[in-house]
Amino acid sequence: MSNRILTMLEESGKHYISGELLSRELGISRTAIWKQIRKLEAQGYTIDASPRLGYRLAGRPSRLTMPELLGKLQGTTLVSGIKLYESVDSTQNLAHKLAEEGADEGTLVIAEQQTSGRGRMGRSWVSPAGKGVYMSMVLRPNLPLQFAPQLTLLTAVALCRALKELVPAEIGIKWPNDLLIGGKKISGILLESSAEDERIRHVIMGIGISVNLTEEDYPADLAEIATSLRIASGETVDRADVIGAFVKQFEHLYRLYLREGFATIQSLWEALAVTLHKPAKLMTPGGAVEGVPISLTDSGALLVRLADGTELPVFSAEAVRPLDARS
Ligand code: BTN
Repeated sequence: MSNRILTMLEESGKHYISGELLSRELGISRTAIWKQIRKLEAQGYTIDASPRLGYRLAGRPSRLTMPELLGKLQGTTLVSGIKLYESVDSTQNLAHKLAEEGADEGTLVIAEQQTSGRGRMGRSWVSPAGKGVYMSMVLRPNLPLQFAPQLTLLTAVALCRALKELVPAEIGIKWPNDLLIGGKKISGILLESSAEDERIRHVIMGIGISVNLTEEDYPADLAEIATSLRIASGETVDRADVIGAFVKQFEHLYRLYLREGFATIQSLWEALAVTLHKPAKLMTPGGAVEGVPISLTDSGALLVRLADGTELPVFSAEAVRPLDARS
């Protein structure tokens, strides 16, 4: 109930809404409205209350709250439950545990801070308190395990579209799933699958987004290659808005993908990619590959045209470097 009140307060902006209107719209007494307002205040919201005019939202907590998150997810159905933590080692670890215990598809674990945030290739993920989005979702698609890379690309498309809605910056995808602003990494995606008989049992979709980090939040070795939405746009960005926008985009594309397959996701990815049509050196598990990435294959590999004209699908690479850059 308090999230519906919060949504109504947010929608009316600087204007007051009368207790009578809230009570009529939500079908509860004015005393019950007042109790819900007190609940929101206890969660850190500042609400101006005037006996004559009613209520208006005057300030939000800097922490993520359940009512706010639920409000941002209105109109979506994928998220089946949210677990919101102050500090965890890694939302990824927690989501894995929940999935093993039978958690439903759409279980979403979010933390204000991670003490051991994990990235791809054994790297760590910088996760300072209250500044980023650190979340992991349990997915249970009925798909062969070989399709898991397509889900990674889908996630990148959803996140790219969501962030483009919120910040006026050029955001592109570097294969397979890093989002870049001005060549610097803004987010990380880590999909980890568990399978049985070559079919997916569950996937843990981990997402880290550098929302309001400042230069000082990054260790020296990352300062050159990482940025945040705040650094790039000069504005503080609401983290609940980021989560809401992502879930909406992801839900839409995920359902489309499960219904119709990879073709649309493939075209959307190619349109957002910054990696295509530029000579590059890819450090693959089988050695370095030099060529021009030209498209995705139907299964989600990167198709690279080599100097002799042959085309090679690359399924994984630790790094993709522009050929004119020093490596
Ligand atoms: C990458 O290396 O680019 C992927 C980084 C993924 C980080 C996210 S933050 C939420 C989730 N929990 C983790 O420990 N990792 C992922």
